[in-house]
Amino acid sequence: MSGNDFQRYLHAKRTVDDRALDRRVLDRLAAALSDRARELSEPLRVLEVGAGVGTMPTRLLDRGVLPDRTRYVAVDERPENVAAARDYLRERGFDGNGNGTLRYDDDRTIDVELVVGDAFGIEGEYDLLIGQAFLDLVDLSWALPRLFDRLRSGGTFYFPITFDGGTIFVPELELDDRIAELYHRDMDERTRDGRSAGHSRTGRRLFSRVPEAGGEILAAGSSDWVVHPSYPADEAFFLRHILGTIEGALSGHQELDDAAFDAWVETRRGQIEREELTYVAHQLDVLGRV
Ligand SMILES: C[S@@+](CC[C@H](N)C(=O)[O-])C[C@H]1O[C@@H](n2cnc3c(N)ncnc32)[C@H](O)[C@@H]1O
Repeated sequence: MSGNDFQRYLHAKRTVDDRALDRRVLDRLAAALSDRARELSEPLRVLEVGAGVGTMPTRLLDRGVLPDRTRYVAVDERPENVAAARDYLRERGFDGNGNGTLRYDDDRTIDVELVVGDAFGIEGEYDLLIGQAFLDLVDLSWALPRLFDRLRSGGTFYFPITFDGGTIFVPELELDDRIAELYHRDMDERTRDGRSAGHSRTGRRLFSRVPEAGGEILAAGSSDWVVHPSYPADEAFFLRHILGTIEGALSGHQELDDAAFDAWVETRRGQIEREELTYVAHQLDVLGRV
């Protein structure tokens, strides 16, 4: 997969996420931010970690979740993602603000600063921390206290689209359960810099790890990805990417018969091309405060 393909995947994911996000949790976020904005004389300060190609600030803007005056810092470690985010925000009506930030100005003023860097190296204090499809890639118990340190006392966190151990394909094939089991195990065993690089059950783990790290959960709901025929927007590409990720993780796996796995991948690929495949991933949205 080329770098460009990853940015295309993140763009293709936008419509899937839009359908999936739990509206009740999002409404609760909007209410918390509007309460906070009433108390503030300064703009609301938002930090988004692992921000990808910038789809979250525009989503929150479109859905009226961000207060009229917001200063949004979006950090991602991949420079190509940040470059794609800059292009996307410009397409969506943001203009350069002279000092490196992008500004959306109608009756609201939303400043977005795009940062290439490590989510855990950012400084400052924020009213809202966002990590979408992010915590399932890191060592949760290590990450949460460090991320919560970036929030003011009483600050809000929003962790939508957190994977929670469900990978479902329809029509069902005999090898599906084995593949899901090994794919989830592969996620559980990945490491990076000597630490766990995520877990397939991160969503449910938030209910115990958040209080341990000093947070309180205020709202939670499921945000399962459901992609079924006929595929809107670029969602056939989204499915090909998911299939490619599973193929990359399991090809040559010693507990899988090579020929059977190759046949499974080819069958799924054909089903995507003929728009016959349905894919469901179980995920959770969690909102709270520190
Ligand atoms: C699954 S993608 C999700 C992107 C975006 N939040 C979305 O939902 O479309 C995870 C993102 O986190 C970024 N990422 C992973 N670890 C990171 C870290 N330690 N610091 C900053 N970004 C990181 C990756 O580059 C990738 O863009």
